[in-house]
Amino acid sequence: MTQRIVVLISGSGSNLQTLIDHSQKGDLHGNIVGVISNKADAFGLVRAQNASIPSLVLDHKTFASREDFDLALIEHIDSFKPDLVVLAGFMRILSAEFVRRYQGHLMNIHPSLLPRYKGLNTHQRALDAGDAEHGCSVHFVTEELDGGPIIIQAKTPILMEDDSASLQARVHTLEHKIYPLAVSWFCSGRLRVTDDGVMLDDNCLPSSGFELKA
Ligand code: GRF
Repeated sequence: MTQRIVVLISGSGSNLQTLIDHSQKGDLHGNIVGVISNKADAFGLVRAQNASIPSLVLDHKTFASREDFDLALIEHIDSFKPDLVVLAGFMRILSAEFVRRYQGHLMNIHPSLLPRYKGLNTHQRALDAGDAEHGCSVHFVTEELDGGPIIIQAKTPILMEDDSASLQARVHTLEHKIYPLAVSWFCSGRLRVTDDGVMLDDNCLPSSGFELKA
């Protein structure tokens, strides 16, 4: 059965676009049934409209607390009856209640090789540390910020001439490869999280997830 996916965004939505493209090609094993943004000017909303996907804005600034916003968010998400909730550049810290509501059905993409560089400014931090490589990770979301079990990573070498912008551009390209893959694994029933870790086709993945080779 085709899985129902809700995508949460705050900005450009290039990862959303990749998921839309794969869904339209039929290789996501899922349909994006709703897009929710906490920012009214997020370009991802235009991408959703262009693809005739229902979308809505829920502005966190109009709520008294994080918990109130998250409760409203849960209501809107649940109205789409999703099997999977995908965070694609959704720039909000989620409450414990929200995370528990979708545990095992909630994914995020992060622009670093987790567990390195949780939080913001990941590209500059990798450069400042003199790392030889950088990359991105898709993970199941838990209550620990950027700390949930990792599904898949892709790496790129850091070059002498790299700056934060060039590194970000390369990592973004990798994000567009690993997110559709992770979502398609989930939607085709190949991926799940257990107490032992992330299982892909009944094999337990290493703690760094599956590594997508260039
Ligand atoms: C990506 O770099 C993602 O890793 C991070 O937010 C950014 C979203 O980019 N969580 P986009 O809106 O999908 O283009």
